[in-house]
Amino acid sequence: MIVRELKPKVYSLSAIDWDRKLFDELVPLPEGTSYNAYLVKGSEKTALIDTVHPSMSDDLIKALKGMGLARLDYIVSNHAEADHSGSIPALLAEFPEARVLANVKCRSLLKAALKLPAEALTLIQDEQVISLGDKSLRFMWVPWVHWPDTTITYLQEDRIVFSCDFLGAHLATSDLYASDEARVERAALTYYAEIMMPYRPNVNKHLKRLEGVDIEMIAPSHGPVHARPDFILSLYRRWAGDQTRPQVVIPYLSMYESTAKMVAYLVDRLMGKGLSVQPFNVVDLDSGRFASALVEASTIVFASPTVLDGPHPAMAYAAYLANALRPKTKYAAIIGSYGWGTGMPESLTALLPNLKVAWLDAVNTGGAPRAEDFAALDRLADDIRAVNLGQEVVSAS
Ligand code: FEO
Repeated sequence: MIVRELKPKVYSLSAIDWDRKLFDELVPLPEGTSYNAYLVKGSEKTALIDTVHPSMSDDLIKALKGMGLARLDYIVSNHAEADHSGSIPALLAEFPEARVLANVKCRSLLKAALKLPAEALTLIQDEQVISLGDKSLRFMWVPWVHWPDTTITYLQEDRIVFSCDFLGAHLATSDLYASDEARVERAALTYYAEIMMPYRPNVNKHLKRLEGVDIEMIAPSHGPVHARPDFILSLYRRWAGDQTRPQVVIPYLSMYESTAKMVAYLVDRLMGKGLSVQPFNVVDLDSGRFASALVEASTIVFASPTVLDGPHPAMAYAAYLANALRPKTKYAAIIGSYGWGTGMPESLTALLPNLKVAWLDAVNTGGAPRAEDFAALDRLADDIRAVNLGQEVVSAS
């Protein structure tokens, strides 16, 4: 770990996890990640904002010792999840005088997870300001950007927002700042999709609150620092806003080529109508790419063969993810084929109660698709084009 200065007496201490392939045994990390802590040295007191993954505690302590840090007054815990709080016990062993500052929800989660002694924890309130001497930290609660406990810490004199997970990105990079914006945008999009999208109304509320804050820099706890705050804030405003784009996401799989033929036909028809289409074979689903595709898509078409009168289990998993991620998608349809049971569309729809969509007519055929099934897919393509152009749909029930 190297120590890098963001502003005089304000330092980034980033534990870069180049090799991590999976987060929480769930989220693919194609570009690794980082866990960022930040040290703020005031004229009277010193605060560390967030820590790092517990597997990298030693690196953080070594870096702090290498700076000649003899005393640490505060450890600000913006969020209790272990990738940011997990090194607190090791830090308290090294700096027993430090007090852990946390809001009431974060405090109870820290107590449960880390078994911290009550005397080590000091409660902070929303909008409370603490002085470090010539620098001061203001705390802003931003609950439910994916956990109920998150705080943003604002370093008032240097106008830096320490946003923890919010506005972050899983990206291992040697860049201190988000200079490669295309790369950072891809990583931040996936991160938003997987972590924040289910809480879109809260994201919008917190973005609104940040409009009243004078921000020079945003320093998240994953990924590079934003020296151009409007870059990430405007992306978040777009992703979390109500507007969708005319994009069709098609999670699909096929057992005997019938559903595959229907998907190929529909993709061609939609492309022929100038729509953006993204099919995902869900047998080996990249959940990060799938989640990212759902962020702004207007339409989802689930395409599944029937297994035991319901969707194929791989499709049930994709539906579970789509339902849990609560995208702002406005239209959906189900297509597929069956051998003997016709109940797949109903069973699949029942897995998707969180999608607030208008359902277009399903196309579910017995065995291989026939001319009338392709005609039904033509009508579905017409309907998808119509709803994306804001026209009235005539064939939807
Ligand atoms: Fe990066 Fe919610 O922890």
